Amino acid sequence: MNEYSVHNTEQEAAAPVCEPERQYYYIEKAKAYLEKMSEAAGRPLTFCVTTFGCQMNARDSEKLTGILERIGYVEEPDEEKADFVIYNTCTVRENANQRVYGRLGQLGRIKKKNPHMMIALCGCMMQEPEVVEKLKKSYPFVDLIFGTHNIFKFAELLATRMESGRTVIDIWKDTDKIVEDLPSERKYPFKSGVNIMFGCNNFCSYCIVPYVRGRERSRDPKAIIREIERLVADGVVEVMLLGQNVNSYGKTLEHPISFAELLQEIEKIDGLERIRFMTSHPKDLSDDLIRVMADSKKICRHLHLPVQSGSTRILEKMNRRYTKEGYLALVDRIRTAMPDISLTTDIIVGFPGETEEDFLETMDVVKKVGYDSAFTFIYSKRTGTPAAVMEDQVPEAVVKDRFNCLLQVVQEISAQRCAIHEGTVQTVLAESVNDHDSSLITGRLGNNLLVHFPGDASMIGKFYHVHLRECRGFYYLGEIASED
Ligand code: 5AD
Ligand code: SF4
Repeated sequence: MNEYSVHNTEQEAAAPVCEPERQYYYIEKAKAYLEKMSEAAGRPLTFCVTTFGCQMNARDSEKLTGILERIGYVEEPDEEKADFVIYNTCTVRENANQRVYGRLGQLGRIKKKNPHMMIALCGCMMQEPEVVEKLKKSYPFVDLIFGTHNIFKFAELLATRMESGRTVIDIWKDTDKIVEDLPSERKYPFKSGVNIMFGCNNFCSYCIVPYVRGRERSRDPKAIIREIERLVADGVVEVMLLGQNVNSYGKTLEHPISFAELLQEIEKIDGLERIRFMTSHPKDLSDDLIRVMADSKKICRHLHLPVQSGSTRILEKMNRRYTKEGYLALVDRIRTAMPDISLTTDIIVGFPGETEEDFLETMDVVKKVGYDSAFTFIYSKRTGTPAAVMEDQVPEAVVKDRFNCLLQVVQEISAQRCAIHEGTVQTVLAESVNDHDSSLITGRLGNNLLVHFPGDASMIGKFYHVHLRECRGFYYLGEIASED
């Protein structure tokens, strides 16, 4: 790879020093380059952003899209046809990495045939030095590589790549910086993710996130409110507040404020109808938050509360800082305050040292809580985390058996939980035209369940009272009772 130093451009002197002004300057620069490139190609050049992983990445991809559109690229949904392809990667489990390498190989072959094509990689995977080494060695056709901490610099890095014609690699180890007011392009006009914090300080022993996303940083509440007010003015009725551990929001701010207090401020925004958030760490979920949720008209009756394991012994080895009993007591308090709440979770099977007994404790929690749905994961060893060097890694065949057993129980319980709403009328936000049948609209209940009902695209973004006629396991078929 013929690498280019990003700290070395002649333009640096002329560029504004402050953010976000600096990035707007580079957007203009990249735009001028793109115009020349489009002229040479004799057509507008296109882009495709492919997102792996969580909602944080999905939100980051909207920011990348916003910048690319400002520069003048046109969106092309098929990545094999696009002139600029960017992978926003995830590294939480090893199989996510493997998928990126597989698809990248394929892109390399396509690039050989398209002289205008550029490939960029960013996101969590890029924060791992071994990954960048492997890319340099085996995938030299990649044009631009950056990480999670300097994603705000995307325009600058892209302009540098266009100007130099050489590979640009810029990875920061950490940052305490949060850059506000960069462009962003929403996937949906009526709902949006909103970052309220970045990073994580919990160091669960299996998890790579604290190493690749850095230390916990909360956004200024005023900046959050301002962003939501702007979104609402632009047609947004639902926000999803995003953070690795939203319950510890605000603790490190100069003027500390709790997550419950932030929610109360957001609730006051006129025109905003639904507030969601994720993820909640059980150890930090306060009684204040439960009260604020119970009293709220806008906060959706849904909590994603990852349990990870039902065994207190394993929870301790995972560094989760709660016990099985503590978790169940918390669920009790939540259900007492909000009997209709939907609870979802994440569960890891096969953590090092997990015995049959430990696994049965997890099954016990699943049955006692009765989750509306659960994401189940096979433990994946992440180099650099404490769990990777723990003894007693569980044999693959045992893990697979446990995983299948758990999945079956989780699915049976979800289907039972879903069915309890059959015959009721619920408020539904119409979100999209159904993928398989264009005479149907797909909408979402406050508790996150989906319902398909007759309608057309003009209804998207509006609320309806929908009669949930028939439960089909994980979703409903319904019909409109009345417009909200
Ligand atoms: N192996 C398997 N699952 C993991 N998760 C995080 N790290 C790992 C790992 N090493 C799961 C956790 C977390 C979710 C986002 O991913 O359940 O809540
Ligand atoms: Fe990973 Fe734990 Fe932080 Fe979640 S809370 S991101 S599982 S370290």
